[in-house]
Amino acid sequence: MKVLLTGGAGYIGSHTALELAKNNFEVYIIDNLANSSIEAIFRVEKLTGKKLTFFELDLLEREALNDIFDQNQFDAVIHFAGLKAAAESVAQPLAYYRNNIGGTLNLCAAMGRFGVKNLVFSSSATVYGNPEQLPISEDAPITDAASPYGRTKLMIEKLLSDICAADSTLNVVLLRYFNPGGAHESGDIGEDPNGIPNNLLPYITQCTVGSRKALTVFGDDYPTPDGTCIRDYIHVVDLALGHLAAISKLQQNPGLVTYNLGTGRGSSVLEVIQAFERTNERKVPYVIGLRRPGDVAECYTDPTKAKIELAWQAQRTLEDICRDAWRWQKKNPEGY
Ligand code: NAD
Ligand code: WQD
Repeated sequence: MKVLLTGGAGYIGSHTALELAKNNFEVYIIDNLANSSIEAIFRVEKLTGKKLTFFELDLLEREALNDIFDQNQFDAVIHFAGLKAAAESVAQPLAYYRNNIGGTLNLCAAMGRFGVKNLVFSSSATVYGNPEQLPISEDAPITDAASPYGRTKLMIEKLLSDICAADSTLNVVLLRYFNPGGAHESGDIGEDPNGIPNNLLPYITQCTVGSRKALTVFGDDYPTPDGTCIRDYIHVVDLALGHLAAISKLQQNPGLVTYNLGTGRGSSVLEVIQAFERTNERKVPYVIGLRRPGDVAECYTDPTKAKIELAWQAQRTLEDICRDAWRWQKKNPEGY
């Protein structure tokens, strides 16, 4: 089966490429390398002993995108490509709308033109905004997101829902990821953010390796047991395997379906720091700071729907995430 991964050189895409290749899928990748390195693809090839087909291309380049679809009959597409920094999107909304929405429009048009019917889309728990109820199930109300980035995810979900309503032969799985972390157990591929990391785990590993001074814990006065925010951290390899389960679901012609991918377990920022210190026997330098605008106190999934309908559930623990994230960072102190 030929699967195209847009954004497949990135963090989640490269881990998914590895699991697909291991399971004998033919993997094709389109990435403009805006937030990734081609080295990730070389390493996936080395780890799996399989060749991936890579096109360095921006999804906004419509004609070249159509040519790739014309020359390759893909069975399914996993659409990871997008800009993802929520805070940056507040400062640069147009860049986010242009890239994330524009790229998706071109991709859907190419799929329509060349008869590709199956799509998995990387959405985010950010679409739930400040949840009214915990744990969060897929039918929780979706009102608005906290950032232009989040709104691009909401808009793309709606766009995909509309094109599915207009064409009953299309199959789309929307995957709403919770908080991905960790790395492949080899330590050869992992998260390599540009500049200052926005996310907690890469910030912790960079502080521990010495490339950043100290982590600022964003607020300890939330209505949670230790006052710090609670999130559902999911190991990136479990997340990657969720995409293989989603591809199997597409083959059942489900129309449009949505799944949360998380563990169902919430951990506070201080619990993550403690788990990291315990697992790796390293101190994480940190200070308590002010709340970060837009953060919600708690966010974790009800994992039941994915478990029943995809026969998928996260297997790895927070300790696994901390151990594997640190192995990657130690082996690659400056990333790729
Ligand atoms: P990433 O930045 O590592 O990967 C995204 C990839 O897309 C990068 O390699 C980038 O170069 C590429 N890309 C961006 N715009 C492109 C374009 N116009 N044309 C071609 N390639 C383009 O991010 P990730 O963490 O692997 O996230 C993958 C997807 O999952 C994104 O859509 C993101 O919004 C979503 N997501 C991520 C998280 C997270 O915390 N990492 C959580 C929820 C959802
Ligand atoms: C986790 C916790 C912070 C950094 C974001 C996006 C979301 C999704 C996942 C893409 C929070 C705290 C963090 C730091 C800290 N991505 N923190 N100090 O905000 O839950 O979700 O990534 O879709 O859309 O918004 O993840 O890793 O930034 O933060 O105290 O330096 O760690 O306050 O409680 P978040 P995160």
